[in-house]
Amino acid sequence: MSAAGPSPGANSAPTGGSAAAKPQAWGDDMSAAGPNAPVIAIDGPAASGKGTIAHNVAQALRFHYLDSGSLYRLVALRAVERAVAPDDAAGLTGLTADLNVAFRDGRATLDGRDVADSLRTEAVSTVASKIAVHPAVRSALMARQRAFRAPPGLVAEGRDMGTVVFPDAGLKVFLTASAEQRAERRHKQLITKGISVNIDSLLRDIRERDARDSTRAAAPLAPAPDAVILDTTNLSIAEVTAAVLALYGEPAG
Ligand code: CDP
Repeated sequence: MSAAGPSPGANSAPTGGSAAAKPQAWGDDMSAAGPNAPVIAIDGPAASGKGTIAHNVAQALRFHYLDSGSLYRLVALRAVERAVAPDDAAGLTGLTADLNVAFRDGRATLDGRDVADSLRTEAVSTVASKIAVHPAVRSALMARQRAFRAPPGLVAEGRDMGTVVFPDAGLKVFLTASAEQRAERRHKQLITKGISVNIDSLLRDIRERDARDSTRAAAPLAPAPDAVILDTTNLSIAEVTAAVLALYGEPAG
């Protein structure tokens, strides 16, 4: 597993929260070593802070870290590059099998090219949510996600970590926040990266993505029945991180 996770708010590609230094190649199957390793599943809608919180919790516990959304984004980026339409389920599934992806120091590479910044554009976000509706694409990504489960444990974030990918996770958290607050957070995040975007168009994109993610038939965005729901609208990153660690039974810092 790769050592350095992404900085909070930066592109958070799947990477280890542990101190080991080996880069994580997308095909590395660590699950054989840890099918029973503990999992903390953190799900929630776009820009709810999942990435930052999951990264912080993984670092605090020295657990591995999976940003499942980056896998959907990688397929989306490749689809855009190869002009495969978002409704071409068979074409997209073919792309998924062929992707040559690795994660180094929290940055994703596609065929050895650093694509971390390209993955976070609003255009790729929209295509990712369009391709994520296809059950065949979702199941093509399943083993890749489960392969991240390894000792001493995994923090996995996305939309269906607690419901579909890791239904036996020991702790499931579902983060929510108002759409306005989430658009503001994403706006600030993009500004720190030197990307200027109109906040109204961000809010519109977030609402559209929420609607598509929540209403699709396959693995819709929804809390697992046994998830703890945390409304983070008025909470700081430190407060949410501490709350998740407390739920897991570990005091923060
Ligand atoms: O960071 P943000 O919440 O904006 O997005 P993301 O987690 O990177 O996910 C991008 C898109 O991938 C989402 O809008 C979902 O449609 C899809 N996705 C999914 O369907 N299932 C997951 N486990 C993770 C992401």
